Amino acid sequence: EQIEKGGYDHFMLKEIYEQPDAIVDTYRGRLLVDEGIIRMAGVDDNIEKFLNANRIIIVACGTSWHAGLVAEYIFEEFARIPVEVEYASEFRYRNPVINEKDVVIAISQSGETADTLAAIKLAKENGAFVFGVCNVVGSSIARETDAGAYTHAGPEIGVASTKAFTTQITVLSLIALTLAKAKGKLSKSDYHLYLNELELIPKKVLKALTANEHIIKISETYKDASNFLYLGRGFNFPVALEGALKLKEISYIHAEGYPAAEMKHGPIALIDEQMPVVVIATKKGHYEKVVSNIQEIKSRHGKIIAVVTEGDIMVSELADHVIEVPETVEAFTPLLTTIPLQLLSYHIAVMRNCNVDQPRNLAKSVTVE
Ligand code: G6P
Repeated sequence: EQIEKGGYDHFMLKEIYEQPDAIVDTYRGRLLVDEGIIRMAGVDDNIEKFLNANRIIIVACGTSWHAGLVAEYIFEEFARIPVEVEYASEFRYRNPVINEKDVVIAISQSGETADTLAAIKLAKENGAFVFGVCNVVGSSIARETDAGAYTHAGPEIGVASTKAFTTQITVLSLIALTLAKAKGKLSKSDYHLYLNELELIPKKVLKALTANEHIIKISETYKDASNFLYLGRGFNFPVALEGALKLKEISYIHAEGYPAAEMKHGPIALIDEQMPVVVIATKKGHYEKVVSNIQEIKSRHGKIIAVVTEGDIMVSELADHVIEVPETVEAFTPLLTTIPLQLLSYHIAVMRNCNVDQPRNLAKSVTVE
């Protein structure tokens, strides 16, 4: 097992560090920047299904559901197709309105999650075209879906999902860009800009990982906290949810993710000097609004850990700690902002002597209801 961990203390840390390569593996042969095209057989062969769809419904569980939420923002931004994101467990039991004009995208790392599998069967029975985004080749979901695209992230062993999340977002971004082009929803120059930016993401993830030592120090300060709040807006709202999930999964600290603007409808009541608040405050993503949310936290003496764009000055003056990530287009910021949150939860869990790779009560793949 030590050899399999490749010199890392845990699979989770190894998998966090594998992300630059995993994302390259995900887009290799698909993202052809020089030719200005994206090639994905599962999408290209079924392009009419996507283009004729009234809407896309994404079904998933856990971290994959968070990737689905990011995808909702990306699909609607790039391709202007309405998207709904559902927990597979809710979808399968709530008599959803679904028919042959719907495209369902099922996202699953393992390809074996029972609820997601059941949601796929229901969607197919009602005539929808079902597309799978899976990591495990030949898995049940990969077999049950009408078409699909693998993430090619390589085996993910740590129960807390890391590289599966970023590679799912990568695949879904490729699909969104393909549809945007086919529907003529992006200008040529924007389309090329996004292709270029996506290709640069692995290098930027590598850069984001260099904050590790700094994050270890922050983790020391907050490892004994009882609660954490995570806030983000827009594309980074799902990242806040995922950051909170990562922390609670492996460190057993109660954590909540919230859209930053919703803070005033509840979570703000919890903020005092004992409450660390992780705020994703990258440039472009409603930056000024997030800065004013930070001011509200500060005036209530909350401890602010901000994830900011490289070179940020305004938030750095307000926050107790800042963690920088490289700049990219707003839609791809989740691929970078999620990295420090993975590292933060990892280090806090290690410092609390938790079993990082196999947290209590959790399973890597939930094959029963
Ligand atoms: C479990 C795992 C999570 C995962 C979720 C969905 O809860 O612990 O890490 O996100 O299942 O799994 P899937 O394989 O369908 O992505």
